[in-house]
Amino acid sequence: MVCLGNICRSPLAEGILTAKVNPTQVIVDSAGTGGWHVGESPDPRSIAVGKTHGVAISHQRGMQFKAAHFSLFDHIFVMDNSNKADVLRLAQNDEDRKKVQLILDEIFPGENVDVPDPYYGGDQGFENVYQMLDQACEKIAARL
Ligand code: 4NP
Repeated sequence: MVCLGNICRSPLAEGILTAKVNPTQVIVDSAGTGGWHVGESPDPRSIAVGKTHGVAISHQRGMQFKAAHFSLFDHIFVMDNSNKADVLRLAQNDEDRKKVQLILDEIFPGENVDVPDPYYGGDQGFENVYQMLDQACEKIAARL
């Protein structure tokens, strides 16, 4: 699960999908394309909205997405088109490129919809992000 800062959207995506899969069969992690928040906890507003829905994410720590992640993961879900471009820039071959997918393609196939960055908005933005990610992760978990 990849966003820009790895403190708002992708930590929630990691927590939500983790809660829907068998952890002995599926490894879920998240990262940001930027490195500003490496080692930090998720944004308190993401922690709070997760908690409201019974998804604990406060133990997570920020990590930056690196080219090496392509060989460690089978699927790379990006939150928006800008994340997608940044991740694709690090891809080395078609096999890498094929792993990258906008997460909301799961619920709005072919519509190129971004998960809006809630960083500069209010709490409702975080709830909105939670709902979108929950629906998308339901589809992903069913397929996995
Ligand atoms: P995220 O949100 O990509 O959903 O984690 C952001 C968090 C921090 C920043 C940008 C986006 N930032 O510029 O610090």
